[in-house]
Amino acid sequence: MTDYFAPRSLLVTGGAGFIGSNFINNFMAGNSGCRVVNLDALTYAGNLENLRAVENSPDYRFVKGDICDSELVAGILEKEKIDAVVHFAAESHVDRSILGPEVFVRTNVLGTQVLLEESRRHWQSAQVENFRYLQISTDEVYGSLGKTGYFTEETPLAANSPYSASKAGADLLVRAYHETFGFPAMTTRCSNNYGPFQFPEKLIPLMIHNILAGKPLPVYGDGLNVRDWLHVKDHSLAVETVLKKGGIGRVYNIGGNNEWRNIDIVNLVCSLMDEKLGNTRCTSNALISFVKDRPGHDRRYAIDASRIRSELGWEPSFTFERGIDETIDWYLANREWSAKVTSGAYRDYYRQMYEGRQ
Ligand code: NAD
Ligand code: TYD
Repeated sequence: MTDYFAPRSLLVTGGAGFIGSNFINNFMAGNSGCRVVNLDALTYAGNLENLRAVENSPDYRFVKGDICDSELVAGILEKEKIDAVVHFAAESHVDRSILGPEVFVRTNVLGTQVLLEESRRHWQSAQVENFRYLQISTDEVYGSLGKTGYFTEETPLAANSPYSASKAGADLLVRAYHETFGFPAMTTRCSNNYGPFQFPEKLIPLMIHNILAGKPLPVYGDGLNVRDWLHVKDHSLAVETVLKKGGIGRVYNIGGNNEWRNIDIVNLVCSLMDEKLGNTRCTSNALISFVKDRPGHDRRYAIDASRIRSELGWEPSFTFERGIDETIDWYLANREWSAKVTSGAYRDYYRQMYEGRQ
């Protein structure tokens, strides 16, 4: 483990997305005085309303732009005297990657290479004494498990979807920049996240959204695929822990030992929704509809997170019972948020708040 690192000027990419915005909100609440620059292209998944809590802070700056734009990235690194990069920006949905892989390669592979290259130049030009680059990756780069076993950091990469292949490509570039140039990079690989501000195309928010709309709840294949779920706040704290205490060149798996079969998650969401909505006559699980399986659907993910626990002292704080309950309450209290992101109306927020101001 290296010494404690306290960033003074942090570049976060993809900070208007689900995990990036949760990270910025949590990080800024606990690290006043550290500047945070959020670079986000505002694709369909980016929503600045997620950042209302910090948008007026003098320590926060939003830049609308593409991580593939090397001039823009170089300019931010220099002008803002960035001493740490946390790279969340990505195309993140497996189903979309099956329909159109190209943008996944562009953003996830080429975008990462641009960030690495500009960060390396910035670091080497001695503008900053101490520098950290943190790649936010996923357990999906390891492929699929059978009924038993866990992914460790030594598990070979065996990505199966265009999404996970593009993330694995990026991870290898990060590794190469460390090995070749001594670039101070680290990587985290987390299991499936859930929590507030998740776009309702991913399993849990989609089920909540469809129950509210009375629409079918599509369960792929036999519904017995297993995912390992972690609350986004626990992921955010793990990222902060690695940024401050992680070893240069190290990879850290992040997960909370919380495996669920998809059908069990869907049934759980249905029963919690019924309870909260006071449904007595009809039950939400009548909406469950088994549909054709996702091509190349990974059967099981499960993370061995003992390295981050033992070396860096990180522990998840949410039980799943509490996390899922609070998440459903959040979506029920923020129906307008879901309505706006599914209709596209959230884009008006950017126009009102930012256009003409930069
Ligand atoms: P998300 O899709 O909610 O957000 C992605 C963000 O990146 C959006 O704000 C989008 O506008 C931005 N973006 C996309 N392309 C860009 C580009 N070219 N330039 C600048 N910004 C761009 O994703 P998420 O679920 O928050 O995931 C964030 C990161 O965490 C990703 O790298 C993902 O691979 C990783 N991850 C996600 C999960 C999960 O369960 N969601 C689990 C493990 C790891
Ligand atoms: P998802 O949230 O897309 O995350 P990932 O594919 O990155 O794990 O899907 C989680 C699991 O839920 C996955 O096994 C696919 C399944 N799934 C469904 O059964 N129905 C759905 O409508 C969605 C979106 C996912």
